[in-house]
Amino acid sequence: MSLRTSSASLSLCFWPGSRDRTNVPGRRRLISAVIAAIGAFVLFYLYAVPQLKRFRFRSELSWYDLGLYGFGPSQSYISFDEESPIVEISPPGAQCDPRYTFLAPRGDSVAHPGPMILDARGELVWMKYNWGTTQDFRIQRYKGQDYVTYWQGDEEDGHGRGSWYMLDSTYATKYIVSPVGAMDGDLHDFHITVNDTALITIYDPIPADLTSVGGPELGWLYEGVFQEVDIETGELLFEWRSSKFFPPSSSYEPINDRGHERTLGYDYFHMNSVDKDDQGRYLVSARHTHSVTCIDGSTGEVLWTLGGKDNEFSDASNGAATQFEWQHDARWHGPNQITLFNNAANGDYDLQKISHGALIELDIPARQATLLTSYNHPQDLMATSQGNLQVLDTGNVLVGWGHSAAYTEFSREGDVLCDVHFGASAYFSFGRIVSYRVTKGDWIGTPDTLPDAAVADDSVFVSWNGATEVVSWRLEVWDGAGLENMVFTTVDEVDRDGFETEIPLHPEVTTFFRVCAINADGDILSTTEILQRGPSSARGDFLTVHWGVVVIAIFASVCLVCGLYCAVNRQLRRRRSDAYGLYRLVVHKDEAENDSEHDRLPI
Ligand SMILES: *[C@@H]1O[C@H](CO)[C@@H](O)[C@H](O)[C@H]1NC(C)=O
Repeated sequence: MSLRTSSASLSLCFWPGSRDRTNVPGRRRLISAVIAAIGAFVLFYLYAVPQLKRFRFRSELSWYDLGLYGFGPSQSYISFDEESPIVEISPPGAQCDPRYTFLAPRGDSVAHPGPMILDARGELVWMKYNWGTTQDFRIQRYKGQDYVTYWQGDEEDGHGRGSWYMLDSTYATKYIVSPVGAMDGDLHDFHITVNDTALITIYDPIPADLTSVGGPELGWLYEGVFQEVDIETGELLFEWRSSKFFPPSSSYEPINDRGHERTLGYDYFHMNSVDKDDQGRYLVSARHTHSVTCIDGSTGEVLWTLGGKDNEFSDASNGAATQFEWQHDARWHGPNQITLFNNAANGDYDLQKISHGALIELDIPARQATLLTSYNHPQDLMATSQGNLQVLDTGNVLVGWGHSAAYTEFSREGDVLCDVHFGASAYFSFGRIVSYRVTKGDWIGTPDTLPDAAVADDSVFVSWNGATEVVSWRLEVWDGAGLENMVFTTVDEVDRDGFETEIPLHPEVTTFFRVCAINADGDILSTTEILQRGPSSARGDFLTVHWGVVVIAIFASVCLVCGLYCAVNRQLRRRRSDAYGLYRLVVHKDEAENDSEHDRLPI
């Protein structure tokens, strides 16, 4: 009511030529249209254009990449509660490394974020739905045994507050590693060395004078810290802190309004990887200084810095070896070669920059750097954050595109062998599905759970989260002789078919049965609980619930539409009947007679 009243009074005050009865409706319509168009244009320019700029439509995009199946297409299972991504592998006949892929998808389009193992076809092998944030999921060797490791905790202000987890081949948590001292473990790196120690990253807020970068004199700096710790005893073996060697002014990160509070410190360094070579030299990547630094393993002194404001190297590749920006994952490869992931792009600022993996050769005595190979995505991907590069033992190179939901295998020379997307690439810059890193490796998973099974109509669906050794599923049926010591006989054996296998139930399966997981030697690894064929099958339930929801949704929609129609209809009728009286309340007396009539005309 009040809205209508004020708009009526407004229009009466400001409409030009409101005396000219014949032209008024047309002119009003025109002015309204112009105002609406201006409004729409401003809104479009302010809100839609920045978003549209982020789309990366290219002529060669597949339906998958254009988002026909969603931002992050996912697959559900009948015997397993969580959903996993549906991937697209290209080119046709791609030569992917046959080993497992380790990633930790997260983002608004990820139904169940957490650590995840996929096989070379992109089929789920294992996943764990984790609270908070999971990052840096990969396989690492500790004391001769393989572990899957990840960071888990809360992400805060670009870094993490959490711990690192080490899971053995049964997916049991064997070690939880935390920093030494009253500090939180940061999400960026957890690296187990050949000497069975762990290199870990930490963000520590410290008081600092930030006047050199336009900040407060008594300000707060996020110091980049790494520790080397003994995993078994928790003993601190080495600690290095960035502020002793790198002042705030070495950063490319604008300070803006940061640095006034402990919890909103100036993140000038942003350490995101730490490695150690067999000569005991540490290699640290600091994203916000655009530099990679080599650190003496006993004194902590900086031996050299590549890139950024403190760069010491001449560039034999016209800047391509030293002018990386916002990089991740710097790793040693022998005494004179390193790899890194050059994000180039950062945040939402430089949307045209292309990210790539880089293999760089260093002549350390001469302080000269050469870019040996650049690993570029066929769609020129831009990773505004995250990302990694792994040199496989075959010599091939795997690049995980971080903020862009893709990983690509290259030959050592940089030719694309296999490109896998786990989200639609046209929308990558929105970050709806990301994985901080993606790596590959051999893995044997022998979960200590039972295989999962769900009976649905005339089939049983079986899966076993994390089991890598199952080659077939054996269907065994109860002989009906007695419930005391139930005897089961084999009626069928079906090859494992991806994460979940459907086994048709033979007519002789009338009551109780079970399914055994069989390995390559024909041994039984484990057996499902005893299952029963019956009318109350899982799929039946699923469909009943499903259709129930659809019926309720249709019913509610019809009600809503009818209700709205009735309400609007009544409102209109009422408005027509009392419009005259309403306008009289606000209109100047001498105008009332003229204006009340055309105000009732629909605009
Ligand atoms: C492993 O330990 C040996 C002997 O102490 C040392 O020389 C080497 O640098 C260490 N390597 C790493 C990566 O820590």
